[in-house]
Amino acid sequence: MSSPSLSTAATYERLVQASVARIWENVFDWQHLPSLHDTSFAACELVGMDAAGWRVALTSQPGGERRRQIVKLHADRAEHRYVVVTEEGAGAGSEIRVQMQPISIDQTKVTITYHIAEQDPDRLAAIGEGFVALYTRLWDEDEAMMIRREQTSRLPDPAPFAPIDLGSSDALMERLPLTVEAGGRPVRLAMVDGQLTAFSALCPHWLGPLDETPVEDGTVRCPWHDYRFDVRTGQSCDGRGLTLEAAPKVSLIDGKVWLTSP
Ligand code: FES
Ligand SMILES: [Fe+2]
Repeated sequence: MSSPSLSTAATYERLVQASVARIWENVFDWQHLPSLHDTSFAACELVGMDAAGWRVALTSQPGGERRRQIVKLHADRAEHRYVVVTEEGAGAGSEIRVQMQPISIDQTKVTITYHIAEQDPDRLAAIGEGFVALYTRLWDEDEAMMIRREQTSRLPDPAPFAPIDLGSSDALMERLPLTVEAGGRPVRLAMVDGQLTAFSALCPHWLGPLDETPVEDGTVRCPWHDYRFDVRTGQSCDGRGLTLEAAPKVSLIDGKVWLTSP
């Protein structure tokens, strides 16, 4: 039920390929908003946190003070539902209500309704259409992240592996950048400062994909929460202090490239 002064602008239903637990993790993870959803949001800062969830200052694209809203999460885990209320900024008072229904171990039906202080039917319909387009995109991005997160959470622990023959150096150069598997874990190969360089393609934060963004100036950015790493050393280069897992060694023997355990 929405407040008496609010009207329902849109209803969006979707079968999400993720468990309710995985979706809750995503909902509480405010940090991914301006990185995973960087085409929708320009910035997000935490304002506070209580038992019901975060309160954030969220700026939508293309940025600027006019686009900044204070948004509060009210989670009801027991009932598998939450409400996101815009407290300040454009659309203050509006509510996004989400009801989850577990379907299977890795499928959840979500029903999202958008409630706003608008009575004019044409305006309501136009706003509702924009909302559904935005939420389709956001859930596409979230679902891809949750599916990949589920897959990477099941990877084997790092362990020594037998040397891997990557074939002739000339043929390999044509295929760079490239992701290969070593010991069951993804490793990225790229030319950095004129050197063939191998680095772990798993972000040490939440095992995000470091093979979906380009290496620039020797560094790579994780698309999930924007953590950055120097791929030459594995060290964090954003001050957050995390380190990539040890990179395999790359050697050239008789024109062939080999990858060996670190
Ligand atoms: S998984 Fe969070 S920054 Fe990479
Ligand atoms: Fe998201």
